[in-house]
Amino acid sequence: MDSFYLEEIRDHYENPNNYGELENPDISHEEDNPFCGDHIRIDLKINDGIIEDVSFSGYGCTISQASASMLTEEIKGKPLDYVRQLSRDDIVDMLGIPLGPVRIKCATLSLKAVKAGIYRFKGWEFDDEDDEE
Ligand code: FES
Repeated sequence: MDSFYLEEIRDHYENPNNYGELENPDISHEEDNPFCGDHIRIDLKINDGIIEDVSFSGYGCTISQASASMLTEEIKGKPLDYVRQLSRDDIVDMLGIPLGPVRIKCATLSLKAVKAGIYRFKGWEFDDEDDEE
């Protein structure tokens, strides 16, 4: 495994970006990883279809917390539509290391929470294909 990516992951875990809860978020959604019980909450502020602010909170393993930190960094300032085309492959690319089926659940927990929250907010049909094995 590339030690650069492992270092990046550790750094995001120890010093996460956008950690905490927003005041009066337009969207707030929570998800659990059924395999371990770990939990993540995503808050979003939306302005004119743009993700103006985003935060995450909760608890989980290094991969789940690091991917949440990276994902919130990635989507802040982007249109809601941008989130629609994000897939688990994008999360794996962000993390930069190979992941087995169990760790994929960790890595995509925050994406699942972001998508579910935004899809509900927009009334889009939620296609949870990233959750399939
Ligand atoms: Fe629980 Fe990774 S072990 S989210």
